[in-house]
Amino acid sequence: MITTGQKIATQRVERSRLNETDLDNIKFGRVFSDHMVVMDYEDGAWKAPNIVPFGDLELSPAALVLHYSQTIFEGLKAYRMPDGGVSIFRPQANIARMNRSAKRMCMPEIPEDIFLDAMTELVRLDKDWLPKGDEASLYIRPFLFASDEYIGVKPSDNYKFIIFTCPVRAYYSEPVRVKIEMDYSRAFPGGTGEAKCGGNYAGGLYPAKLGQEQGFHQLIWTDGLTHQYIEESGTMNVFFNIEGTLITPALDGTILHGITRDSLIRVAKDEGIRVEERRVSVEEVVSAARNGRLHSAFGAGTAATIAHISKLAFGDEEFNLPAVEDRKIANQVGKRLDDIRRGRVADPYGWVVPVV
Ligand code: COI
Repeated sequence: MITTGQKIATQRVERSRLNETDLDNIKFGRVFSDHMVVMDYEDGAWKAPNIVPFGDLELSPAALVLHYSQTIFEGLKAYRMPDGGVSIFRPQANIARMNRSAKRMCMPEIPEDIFLDAMTELVRLDKDWLPKGDEASLYIRPFLFASDEYIGVKPSDNYKFIIFTCPVRAYYSEPVRVKIEMDYSRAFPGGTGEAKCGGNYAGGLYPAKLGQEQGFHQLIWTDGLTHQYIEESGTMNVFFNIEGTLITPALDGTILHGITRDSLIRVAKDEGIRVEERRVSVEEVVSAARNGRLHSAFGAGTAATIAHISKLAFGDEEFNLPAVEDRKIANQVGKRLDDIRRGRVADPYGWVVPVV
């Protein structure tokens, strides 16, 4: 249990919005808890963090982030435990990844202990916002952006680091239809593909919109040079079950180091399932789909955990994948991970960090 005490200066809301919020009917990312952490970087150093009421920011129209996208973010979740406590899942892994993103985007790294303390304090303060129910969690969104009032192209001197939280339930309500994208790319070697920076997501919007116009929820991204190798699915990592082996693209610099991806791999291996992290060609997946060897495919990310793919399209070909209830391996691994992070079974990995 992390017990940091009230280290962070806290200005509480005068009146909580919780009573007027219907936690049974929330859309992902539209409802925000009462408070947020704010910490500024000025004159080459971090100031002390503060917890303040969630609210609008005052920002110069010339703020560097608005023009050149020097911004990064994270996503992680807190869960309610069977004893009523609250735990955050693998916060250190997200903090480490955020600092790797910061380095790639030429931003100051955030001291890990302050980051963890501030996040813990915030979750504790707004713990009543965590909805009840099997799919409920408190989504934690830390982000960092360039706040210089300056429109020259250079790394900012000043930054704002914020953490807020959102009560959430399931991300997708149904399995998703996806199309293998053969024209547009999300990332390329030497680019920012493995950083969790805003621009990666903005660049995916237009190709995703074209896909949506053709009836697909998301795209399967292929490599930016040849479009012969699979990289990610929508905003998530991707896994394929081909004849009982879980296969996922290896982290080659263009792919996000997903913490859900990493957790699923570890859990699957420990469940005795064969897992391969390697290059995955479009040809391999499509031919497995053609001859019924593709037992399942799913996206893996914090928001959705596992987003089952019901239909996979490649050019004019469309493949319907087995019904979700028949996906033995994906369901087994997904359930085991869910049981660990909700404290229903012992956590052999040290992933679950109790905060309340
Ligand atoms: C996730 O799958 O957790 C994501 O990164 C999606 C997020 C941008 C909402």
